[in-house]
Amino acid sequence: APVALWGGRFSDGPSPEMAALSKSTQFDWRLAQYDISGSRAHARVLHNAGLLTETELDGMLSALTQLAADVADGTFGPTEADEDVHTALERGLLDRAGTELGGKLRAGRSRNDQVATLYRLYLRDGARRVVGLLLDLQEAFLTQADAHPGAAMPGRTHFQHAQPVLLAHHLAAHAQAIVRDIDRIRDWDRRASVSPYGSGALAGSSLGLDPEAVAKELGLDVASANSIDGTASRDFAAELAFCLAMVGVNLSRWAEEVIIFTTAEFGYARLHDAFATGSSIMPQKKNPDIAELTRGKSGRLIGNLTGLLATLKGLPLAYNRDLQEDKEPLIDSIEQLEVLLPALTGLTATLTFDLPRLESMAGAGFSLATDIAEWLVKQGVPFRVAHEAAGECVSLAESSDRELDQLTDDEFAAINPALTPEVRSVLTVAGSLASRDGIGGTAPIRVAEQLDGLRALIAAD
Ligand code: ARG
Repeated sequence: APVALWGGRFSDGPSPEMAALSKSTQFDWRLAQYDISGSRAHARVLHNAGLLTETELDGMLSALTQLAADVADGTFGPTEADEDVHTALERGLLDRAGTELGGKLRAGRSRNDQVATLYRLYLRDGARRVVGLLLDLQEAFLTQADAHPGAAMPGRTHFQHAQPVLLAHHLAAHAQAIVRDIDRIRDWDRRASVSPYGSGALAGSSLGLDPEAVAKELGLDVASANSIDGTASRDFAAELAFCLAMVGVNLSRWAEEVIIFTTAEFGYARLHDAFATGSSIMPQKKNPDIAELTRGKSGRLIGNLTGLLATLKGLPLAYNRDLQEDKEPLIDSIEQLEVLLPALTGLTATLTFDLPRLESMAGAGFSLATDIAEWLVKQGVPFRVAHEAAGECVSLAESSDRELDQLTDDEFAAINPALTPEVRSVLTVAGSLASRDGIGGTAPIRVAEQLDGLRALIAAD
């Protein structure tokens, strides 16, 4: 017969409709091994509190070990009648330890403190897997950057040609965002390292249990300082949902560029066949589906965050069943990133850049105009005047359908006497790049230094 964990005061079992709504094993079964780890730790504190004899503890732990193995190989799983992962595992434990011994484990704990603890364990592992995958993507960006040390490309603002930049600098910019994504998740990890076990339903336990011992056994830094907060708070989940949504948003900016860069109009890069898709009707098509799914899934990750925040808003303390809705958003964010990141990493690692095309476009659109202005500043001309003069150069070149370096010496001098022929030294893409040599600039030496820094961060892992 199905065991609910709360049958005593009820004269009738749950209606099928109620059970269908209530059931959560279809998603929370993922927490099963963490629940069993929590049960082991709990058995030990029950023993230390004198509530389980040595023999009972041994029996309990070996039943839990058996249960863990049966869960791992699929011999034991939830049935339709099990309300949640805790209920199913209770049934499994009673089968293995006997109802007499098995029935002792629930003393001093509630599903409320249980789930708040093991959800943290699940999220920490998931977050660490995501970090591992982000490091792989980081590696792909850095390898691409290293492979193209001198290649220039058009840098853009407002999506218009702005100034030439190194391709490696642009790729490293994406890598920098990932560094922060990783750092943010790790910082979250430290804050999430709290064990609510011992909070009971909301008020703590009267049985002399040691929450710190449970925390320690579970690898969490501390026990909850407040049993109400321990069972009611889910900001740890919302915070991770934000971290993962931010990952999605950062990835989607790269994805958008991939989509644009691989068009015929841009022609900056080509997708590897293995990381592109075709069309069922148009034989010539090579589609950037991975990038599009990245862009699309970022919306989903944002939705997971906002949905969870909406669930939490206005919930009175302590536990409310609404909180069961905390799991699917995060499970989804983690699992989506686990399929997305390897594909995007593969796409990134195998992207072929058209270097001559990038180079030829790098100086287009009068993107060296700032270089004229800054060169004039170095000759002592006030920037206001220099900006004006460079603008006149652009205007003259544009109206006569020439590039800036095609203006004659006389034309330069007529615009501003300080514009001597030496100005041509900065009117090449290479000259422009090399001149931006302050910290964080796109000069090759600075970019090399930046890549070393990023490499060192990865190597530290
Ligand atoms: N399955 C629930 C959750 O995920 C935990 C059970 C708490 N249920 C209860 N009626 N107190 O939040």
